[in-house]
Amino acid sequence: MESEAYIQVLQKLPVRGVIDINVLFIGDIVGSTGRKALKASLPELKSKYNPHIIIANGENAASGRGITSAIANEFFNWGIHGITMGNHTWDNKDIFEFIDDEPRMVRPANFPPGTPGQGYTVIKANGKQLAIVNLQGRTFLPAIDCPFRAADDIVDELRLKVKCILVDFHAEATSEKIAMGWHMDGRASMVVGTHTHVQSNDDTILPGGTAYITDTGMVGSKEGILGMQREAVLYKFKTQLPARFQVDEGKWQFHAVFAELDETSGKARRIEKIRMYEDEWRMD
Ligand SMILES: [Fe+2]
Ligand SMILES: [Fe+2]
Repeated sequence: MESEAYIQVLQKLPVRGVIDINVLFIGDIVGSTGRKALKASLPELKSKYNPHIIIANGENAASGRGITSAIANEFFNWGIHGITMGNHTWDNKDIFEFIDDEPRMVRPANFPPGTPGQGYTVIKANGKQLAIVNLQGRTFLPAIDCPFRAADDIVDELRLKVKCILVDFHAEATSEKIAMGWHMDGRASMVVGTHTHVQSNDDTILPGGTAYITDTGMVGSKEGILGMQREAVLYKFKTQLPARFQVDEGKWQFHAVFAELDETSGKARRIEKIRMYEDEWRMD
């Protein structure tokens, strides 16, 4: 049996063949409050986690509805390398002006054929590369093409070129998201859920080596309802009348996940939830 001193020496030796890609994935950024939280949080996150690649969901970045070219460029200037979208992709008409010319942005790949934009891309940054795929669920969401078959087609082809693949599965039902995690286990490096804006407590590495979480959570006001002012949301629930939702400007929360991926095998080594709060300014 090795002595304690010998084990300590072994632990300090570099492990041959192990090269990681550190990935930070940030949940739905909601409006000006979410953008303020992103700008405030990124420096601390970069120094703590040293991410090679940072991906964020931007479907709610412009007033809670879609994204603009100016906001996307602001994210890229702050160090975001890739942006994923979701069911709010088309809510701000500015997207039609730039999505076809923006290689760092993806919208759900299972939108109908001919839809502007792309469903997957390869992000290259800091000497690393990560394919990102955006898919949308169809349980309690519009009936679009099958996300599972779209995942089969895209991920199997991407794996011929890129070892590490992140799938942002933008979906409502926890069952559909867990099903996608198992469907992609051993084929994608990460399957991370978005859309519910509520971080789930089930981050795990599946047996085939896929890092998984049902929902990453959101970046925006924690005093509203999913980032929007609660008065209008409550009014709509209580009266069933139409109401215009506005971004809440209360204290923010920041939800994300961090993962270490083995660059050689494409398997995940670690996934960790990140939760930060403006009024507490701490990481859990
Ligand atoms: Fe969202
Ligand atoms: Fe959504």
